[in-house]
Amino acid sequence: METRTATVKANAKINLGLRILAKRPDGFHELRTVFQTISLADTLAISYTPSRKISVTLEGMPDVPGNLATRAAQAILKEMRTGGTVHIHIQKQIPMGAGLGGGSSNAAAILLTLPVLAGRAVALTRLLSLAAPLGSDVPFFLIGGTALGLGRGEELYPLEDFPPFAGLLLTPGIHVSTPEAFRALSPSLTSPEPKKQSFQESVRQPLLAPLVNDFESVVFPQHPRLKALKRSLLKQGAAQALMSGSGSAIFGLFNQKETLAGVVQSGKGESVVPISLLTRSRYRSQWKKCLQPHTQGDLWPPRSLYAQ
Ligand code: C5P
Repeated sequence: METRTATVKANAKINLGLRILAKRPDGFHELRTVFQTISLADTLAISYTPSRKISVTLEGMPDVPGNLATRAAQAILKEMRTGGTVHIHIQKQIPMGAGLGGGSSNAAAILLTLPVLAGRAVALTRLLSLAAPLGSDVPFFLIGGTALGLGRGEELYPLEDFPPFAGLLLTPGIHVSTPEAFRALSPSLTSPEPKKQSFQESVRQPLLAPLVNDFESVVFPQHPRLKALKRSLLKQGAAQALMSGSGSAIFGLFNQKETLAGVVQSGKGESVVPISLLTRSRYRSQWKKCLQPHTQGDLWPPRSLYAQ
């Protein structure tokens, strides 16, 4: 049986504002955020061999039970009602536990790639409904660019591209657990109305006021170093500086590339990663390029060359 392999990029995201409104009866938190794909990416080599049974192996990261990448592969094979031997090699660039959505992006990449390799077409609406139970951030990576996230973060509305800031990420190697950060934040939640209003303002006029991430109020006291990093970015001329997701990565957005270059150079000892904001059209054309040998046409999601 023929094995087909594709090498694809799975980009990270940052949150251009994140407000946590309330704990819901299902235990999740109602949130408002703006997701943004960025240039930092993992590389996945995904191979598929038709077979009766489903078998998924993972290399390059710990294959713990319930691993998101494995679950994504199993979910999409079941959706296609096909067996298959799948091997996934992940070359990690996106730090884990940093609020950059690395695991979620890997899962979405698998949902987009396996139908192409298996010769099936799966509608975007189906992919979105498979993505949501895997993780709240997974659906966003099927859309990319700048998008409004509501509900758990799985309810998405594409937005206009964010202005093309030059950016950088500070990734200090602190691992923050997302469920723990939600647990810590939950008791201090107050009336959601003012947060909703100020979030809506920040979406309408994104550069008028500093962006807000509610997780900073619980993560910064635990890790004062993060607050200091944010302060130093603002002091060095960042137009915006914010923690991403539940942390610990801090990003800075700069109007001038020259200012950014100075900050990168003076980032003594810190892990400093220059980034650019990836628009939806660039995200999709990058995807099409990665899957080009196996795809036809330019529909989204990519359609397989092997589909009957
Ligand atoms: O959806 P995901 O698996 O990424 O969420 C991990 C955990 O974070 C959930 O089990 C839940 O405890 C918490 N969470 C939440 N509200 C959200 C998203 C996540 O409480 N909107």
